Amino acid sequence: MFFFDFNIIYLLFITFLFNMLILGIDTSCDETAAAVLKNNIVISNVIYSQVKYHSEFGGVVPSIAKLQHEKNIDKIINLALKRAKISFKDLDAIAVTIGPGLAISLEVGIRKAKELSSLYSLPIIPINHMEGHLYSGFLQPKTTSINKIFDIPKNFPVLGILLSGGHSEFILVEHLFVYKKLGETLDDACGECFDKCARMLNLGYPGGKVLSKLADISRKDLNIQVTNIDGNLYVRELNYKWMLPVPMAKTKDYNLSFSGLKTAFSSLLKAIGNIDKNSIGKLCAFVEYAILYQVIIKLTNILLDYKDYFEEIWLGGGVIANNQLNKMIRNVIKQDYNNISIIKPYKKIFTGDNAAMIALVGYLKYCKYKKNAFTANLDAIDRLPTLDISTNYFKKFL
Ligand code: KG4
Ligand code: ZN
Repeated sequence: MFFFDFNIIYLLFITFLFNMLILGIDTSCDETAAAVLKNNIVISNVIYSQVKYHSEFGGVVPSIAKLQHEKNIDKIINLALKRAKISFKDLDAIAVTIGPGLAISLEVGIRKAKELSSLYSLPIIPINHMEGHLYSGFLQPKTTSINKIFDIPKNFPVLGILLSGGHSEFILVEHLFVYKKLGETLDDACGECFDKCARMLNLGYPGGKVLSKLADISRKDLNIQVTNIDGNLYVRELNYKWMLPVPMAKTKDYNLSFSGLKTAFSSLLKAIGNIDKNSIGKLCAFVEYAILYQVIIKLTNILLDYKDYFEEIWLGGGVIANNQLNKMIRNVIKQDYNNISIIKPYKKIFTGDNAAMIALVGYLKYCKYKKNAFTANLDAIDRLPTLDISTNYFKKFL
């Protein structure tokens, strides 16, 4: 006898109603990125890194970034569509980063989104790049089954930790898209500190990833201790008698600061003088520990002050790829907070800048605001280079 399975019918119904193909575009810094998502599932993801054009300058040169974005954006978008095996006509919307980032870089992506919107009558969803990092843990691989499609964030309040080359922030996510910044760096970002220390060791630019790889293979040789001297916290290596400060360790706020640590590392290197090949890895592991220890202290303070408040911590940004950081966070959670789950990107590629996370936030905005999430008024969309995550930028589009 034939009978209906109502669960399957319901699933088919909502799938039919909500399935969306979104093109994400991100040109906020020095990566030209495009991706196609079916809801929160990554169908294709293309990232073109311009790093080779910037490395000789030791940082991103805005004018070069803009030129490279302009040169590559069509190719990258077309490749994303080709890999997704779709054409522009199949898309439901475009999600594009409007800030924060380099003004003249952001403009390239926004202009392209507007051009495609006019050509193919596609609505645009303007996105905050840091929101992309924040929700990047909810991206799902292509192999995900259809009933996982509605796996959207629910367990609020959540603690978001965003550590990238331009930002270092602790975010209280009260509800979907409602944020309060608990703390942030007062000077350099965490990834920037990694890059500057890597540069002092001649590891190239951006050297954060190289530094952390060398640290991974040399950590076991170190004898690190954290010491309190005259009310200030220091990280010490007992065999080599190296010492670095842990700035902000004693302040009651949840802010971070990395510039003093960077200067202290430079002084330490000068004091050591000739650094043999063997010591480079050990210095990487040592400075990495000092950088990350500060993050862990502030995380511990937040968890103590907000006791039993969070069930989830969301991690996002390039530095989240760091193995030692993940280990240190896991240790804090395991010891005292094993009710807290960690949500982070399913692949390391999504910790850094990418357009899949931008399309994902576009999809989540659609889930929350339905058709209102789409901006028909293209003139209202403009770059916001200093856009802050706690600013409700989206209300002007609703
Ligand atoms: O999120 P992201 O790709 O770009 C920004 O929005 O800034 O982050 C890039 C930053 C760079 O500073 C890079 O050196 C750092 O993330 N990074 C790392 C690691 N991988 C990337 N820092 C430490 N350890 C890593 N494994
Ligand atoms: Zn980023």
